[in-house]
Amino acid sequence: MDFRSLRFKLTLWYVLILGVLLISFSGLLYLTLSRSLYRDVDHKLRSLAELIATESTSPLNKFGFGNIDQTLEAAMNLKPVGKFIQVLDESGRIGRKSENLKNVRLPISLQALRNASNGSISYETTHSFGNTPLRIITYPVKENNQVAKIIQVASSLEDVEDALNTLFVILAVTVPSILMIASLGGLFLANKALKPVDRITQTARMITSRNLNQRIQTLKVKDEISRLVDTFNEMISRLDHSFRQIKQFTADASHELKTPLTILKGEVEVTLRKKRMPHEYEQILVSNLEEINRMSKIVEDLLLLSRADIGEIRLNKEDIHLNRFIQGLTEQMKILAQPKNIRIEISNHQEEIHVFGDALRMRELFINLIENGIKYTEEGGSILITLTQEAEPPAHPLTPADKRPVHFAKVIVTDTGIGIAKDDQERIFNRFFRVDKARSREQGGSGLGLSICRWIVEAHQGDITVKSEPGKGSSFIVRLPIPNQEQGMVNY
Ligand SMILES: Nc1ncnc2c1ncn2[C@@H]1O[C@H](COP(=O)(O)OP(=O)(O)OP(=O)(O)O)[C@@H](O)[C@H]1O
Ligand SMILES: [Mg+2]
Repeated sequence: MDFRSLRFKLTLWYVLILGVLLISFSGLLYLTLSRSLYRDVDHKLRSLAELIATESTSPLNKFGFGNIDQTLEAAMNLKPVGKFIQVLDESGRIGRKSENLKNVRLPISLQALRNASNGSISYETTHSFGNTPLRIITYPVKENNQVAKIIQVASSLEDVEDALNTLFVILAVTVPSILMIASLGGLFLANKALKPVDRITQTARMITSRNLNQRIQTLKVKDEISRLVDTFNEMISRLDHSFRQIKQFTADASHELKTPLTILKGEVEVTLRKKRMPHEYEQILVSNLEEINRMSKIVEDLLLLSRADIGEIRLNKEDIHLNRFIQGLTEQMKILAQPKNIRIEISNHQEEIHVFGDALRMRELFINLIENGIKYTEEGGSILITLTQEAEPPAHPLTPADKRPVHFAKVIVTDTGIGIAKDDQERIFNRFFRVDKARSREQGGSGLGLSICRWIVEAHQGDITVKSEPGKGSSFIVRLPIPNQEQGMVNY
């Protein structure tokens, strides 16, 4: 048995508490019974003493000089079994006594004698009378306000002590036996309750990154352990999901880099097969550079995302005049849109909007979105950028009474392009996801742009969503919190 185990500790506590309760109960039972038995004896002694006293002082005193037992029987029809009676005169000399005393006398202590002469009653237990302990009452009888006689009545305590001893033996045997049985029962219960914990431990031991599809068998009874099992299974599911994502990501990244490398290798190999003219080499080098550029963009994007994942990228936040910022960016993007004859317009009827953000990252965010608009819109289409402001109740109020709205800058990039099917709308933010791989690759896309956009927006405590209808166009909605003027700081 492992003394550090939970089942041992549980059983120990259970037995300890039960032990304390049983011992207290037994002690109380013993004490109460013993007090009650002794009180009973005292009570009987006093009744008898009082009876003898009344009879002996009555004018019709029937106590002659005969045997006290006969007198009692004759006078009161009383046969006090097991009682020793002795009557003393005021100076302590023995007068009459019961037959069972024969030629011995009941002991009387100095203290009892002194009490009696003062008129008070004493109770004493003595062990000096034969083998059995005796309980003696010393009862003074007054006549004319003077102590005339002292009546002593004694009773053997043998029966009382026998009863108490028997009780003690019963308790001394039953309490340890009950504790023994209870500890076995406790151990059985603790074992039963903790059995699922063993199963959890065994399964957890078996789970590695290779077999994350394993689950612990769920329990029918819904208790704390079953909640633990459910939570554990949920945790494994999340781990499983993350591992799959990582694997998928690694596979996608390698595949993404492999394609341009294969093209590069093929081009170089074909070129080297024979001597070529200088302008042919130049052409091939230009094509090579295209693939190299594509690879270096993928590597750059991957590096950015993985550094973002481990929280290595610090944002250099500053005040950004969003209207002016978007205006400047759009002018640059118009050059890119020209070959496809796509119009880019800004709709901004609002007052000045300022956000607190990293200008470089913001630039990357909106360039990615506008670039996508250009890429996935047919020739002659258009892109509209709308800039508005909106407010909503705080999601995480500082106090329950804090109802001050949170203001957001809302930038919507709408194109009249090919649109995105409903099922793909959430997936386009996943790394390497492209609706049409061949088409995106043709246009130089690797499917990392929107993942970066989402990271940038979330790093600024904002959100990004998409609304789209295939064939009609798409709208990307970016919301960025606006600094709270009252607090002088950003309220996120
Ligand atoms: N405005 C849009 N209209 C239609 N489809 C879009 C639009 N923007 C994105 N998509 C779809 O979402 C996919 C993911 O976009 P994302 O910007 O992440 O990658 P990409 O543009 O293919 O490559 P990258 O941006 O890394 O060069 C795209 O391949 C495309 O299928
Ligand atoms: Mg893109």
